[in-house]
Amino acid sequence: MVQDSERVVWLERLIEISRSLNSTLSLRPLLHRILVAAQELTRTEACSILLLDRKSGQLRFEAATGPQGYRMRSIVVPMEGSIAGWVVQTGAPLVIPDVRSDPRHYHKADEQSTFTTHSILAVPLIARDNVIGVLEALNKKNGAEFGEEDVELLTVLGDQAAVAVQNALLFQQSDLIAEIVHEMRTPLAAILAYAELMQRADATLAQCRQFADVIRGEAERLNEMATNFLDLARLESGRAFFAQDPVDLSTVIRMAVSVLMPQADAKQIGLSVDIPSALPLIVGDAQRLHQVMLNLVGNAVKYCRPGDEVTIMVRSEEDRLVVSVADTGPGIPAEALPHIFERFYRVPDVRRTLGAGLGLTIARQIVEAHGGEIHVSSEEGQGTTFTFMLPVNKTRVDADAH
Ligand SMILES: Nc1ncnc2c1ncn2[C@@H]1O[C@H](COP(=O)(O)OP(=O)(O)OP(=O)(O)O)[C@@H](O)[C@H]1O
Ligand SMILES: [Mg+2]
Repeated sequence: MVQDSERVVWLERLIEISRSLNSTLSLRPLLHRILVAAQELTRTEACSILLLDRKSGQLRFEAATGPQGYRMRSIVVPMEGSIAGWVVQTGAPLVIPDVRSDPRHYHKADEQSTFTTHSILAVPLIARDNVIGVLEALNKKNGAEFGEEDVELLTVLGDQAAVAVQNALLFQQSDLIAEIVHEMRTPLAAILAYAELMQRADATLAQCRQFADVIRGEAERLNEMATNFLDLARLESGRAFFAQDPVDLSTVIRMAVSVLMPQADAKQIGLSVDIPSALPLIVGDAQRLHQVMLNLVGNAVKYCRPGDEVTIMVRSEEDRLVVSVADTGPGIPAEALPHIFERFYRVPDVRRTLGAGLGLTIARQIVEAHGGEIHVSSEEGQGTTFTFMLPVNKTRVDADAH
C-alpha cells in the first residue's frame, strides 16, 4: 500500500513535469528541464541526453548535468560499442549495474567529462515511432541499484520528453529559416534595384560605377550574413564541434585586438588591453573564443565615435576568468538592453551602421558552450561594458599541460 501511495505521488510529479516540458519550445532550456526531472525521478548523480542526427546518422551528447556537463556537448558516440547506440538500435531501455563488466560502455565520454560512471539506466527517446535520441541516468545515489520503478519512470519521462524535443527541433528550424529569408530580402532587393538602374539606357558611366559599388557592398553584406547564419544554425542545433584544448586567453585577446587595431586607428578610437601577466589556462576552443572577442571588440569599434576609448580587461578570480570589453561610446538605451543578445536584434540607429544583429547571439552561444556566461551593462551617452566569465578547471588543465 505504501508503494501505491508513493506511486501516486510520482505520477503526479510526472504530470507536472510533462506540463512544464510542453511549455517551452526553446531547445536548451527544454533539455535542461528534462535533465533536472530525470535526475530527480531516478535519484541519480548525473543525467545526459544524446540526440541522433538523421542526416549524418551520428549520435551526440546534447546536454548533461553537473559542472562539467557542458564538456559533453557535441561528443560523438559510436553506434556500435556504446550503450546509447544499443538503445537507439533496439528501441528498448537498458540497465547496466556495473559498466566495468559491459563492453558496450563508451569510456571516452567519461574521460572527456571527468565523470566516473558506475551504473547506467538508458531509455530511448521515441517521437512519432522514430528513435530521436537517448536519455541516460548515471549512478544511483548512495550506491543503490536501479530497480524496475526507475526503468518505468524514466521511460514515461522519456516518452514525454521526446515529443517536446521533436517539437522544439522543428520549431527551431522553421523559425530560423523564416528569419534568414526575411533578413536576406533587404540586400537582395537593393541589388536587384541597382542592377535594373544600371541597365537603363540613360545611365551614365559614372552612375553605373556608383551603382556597382552599392551592389558590391550589399553582396558583401549578404556573404557575411550567410557565414553568420551558418555559424548560428550550427551552434543552435548543437552540431558545432568545440575543441577542448588548453587555451591561453591573453593570446586570443591580443590576436583579436591586432586584427581590429587598423579599424580603430582609422576611426581614431583608442584600443587598450590590461591583462595580468600570468593567467591560468582555460579548456576550450581558441578559434571560437577569438570569434567572441572579434564580435565584442568589433562592436565597440563599430559603434564608437572618434575620440572614444575601448578597454579590454581580464581578471582572474578563484575558479574563473572574467573578461570585460568597455567602451566610452554611445551606449545602449535601457529598453533595448533585455533584447541585445536576441538574434537579429539591432538598436534602431540614426547613424545607419550595417549589421545583421547576430554577433552577440553567436558570442553568447560560444561563451555558454564553454560553461560560461555573458552580461552587458550600459548607459546611454556614457558607454557600454560587455563582461563574460569562463570557468577555469585547474586539475584538467594541469593534467593536459604535462
Ligand atoms: N559596444 C556597443 N555600443 C553600442 N551599441 C552596441 C554595442 N554592441 C552592440 N550594440 C548594439 O547591439 C546590437 C546587436 O549587436 P550584434 O553584434 O548582435 O549585431 P550587429 O553588430 O548589429 O550585427 P553583426 O551581426 O554584424 O554583429 C547592435 O545592432 C547595436 O545596436
Ligand atoms: Mg556586431
